Amino acid sequence: MRIAIIGIGRLGSVFARVLSRGHELLLIDRDFEAARVVASEIGAQPIKDIAEARTCDMAIITVKPAHVEEVVRQIKDAQLIVSCAAGVPIRKLESFGAERVIRVMPNICAEVGEAVIAYALHPEVEKKEKVFMTAFSSLGMCIKTDESHLDTITGASGSGPAFVAFFAEAMIEEAVKNGLARETAEKCVAQTFLGTGKLMRSGWSAQKIIETVASPGGTTEAGLKMLESKGANKAIHEAVRYAAHKARELGK
Ligand SMILES: NC(=O)c1ccc[n+]([C@@H]2O[C@H](COP(=O)([O-])OP(=O)(O)OC[C@H]3O[C@@H](n4cnc5c(N)ncnc54)[C@H](OP(=O)(O)O)[C@@H]3O)[C@@H](O)[C@H]2O)c1
Repeated sequence: MRIAIIGIGRLGSVFARVLSRGHELLLIDRDFEAARVVASEIGAQPIKDIAEARTCDMAIITVKPAHVEEVVRQIKDAQLIVSCAAGVPIRKLESFGAERVIRVMPNICAEVGEAVIAYALHPEVEKKEKVFMTAFSSLGMCIKTDESHLDTITGASGSGPAFVAFFAEAMIEEAVKNGLARETAEKCVAQTFLGTGKLMRSGWSAQKIIETVASPGGTTEAGLKMLESKGANKAIHEAVRYAAHKARELGK
């Protein structure tokens, strides 16, 4: 497929690297040099004229929410517009002129093909869903959802890798403080997160994992009690809620 990616920043460059393995890519950024550098690494085409995105099977928008309008207005009649911008609703994208649009909330785990790709679309765009899936299924697990859930998903999984990494970094730091080499600590913690995720995907609930690891009077129980006494659960609830709230604010 011929795909344009508009906004070659953090997310756009990750998408570009992965999608370049099976598609012809046009990369567009208002800093042409940034697009050129990424394009030369992956064998894609850097493009100056954003209107060329209209000639592609799909135009993926990975600019900040505040810049979405100026982009959409220039590619209104593109075959398919996929907007990754947090908080910007489909009705707003349509009010900017988008004719066929899918709204997506991905995450950065696309780099390793393990993203959550939550997406919403109007029934009349369903005929474009196959085209969308051809590209996005290589980035991770695609979940079709009602648009009203996308801001909540932004808090849970769009921002999620950073929340998980925040927890991981604290575990690594503590292990290093106690004498472990950073490289070893990073490996142990990364594998622990990977294994826990796989357990959950295999059907274990988070609660079951907690109960199975925390034997009464043991080390895990002591650690969990400390987390509770410090209000960690409440802090995580608030972080996820604030991220979702921020997404709603950005879309206004
Ligand atoms: N990062 C993530 O993990 C993540 C996860 C889920 C969703 N998202 C969504 O993805 C979008 C991009 O996030 P990001 O973190 O990748 O942002 P970013 O690093 O700031 O990248 C955006 C890029 O788009 C460029 N740009 C801005 N306006 C443009 C225009 N009119 N035409 C062409 N290029 C333009 C920016 O240039 P300047 O720097 O000059 O403005 C920048 O290079 C956001 O809407 C965000 O909500 C991100």
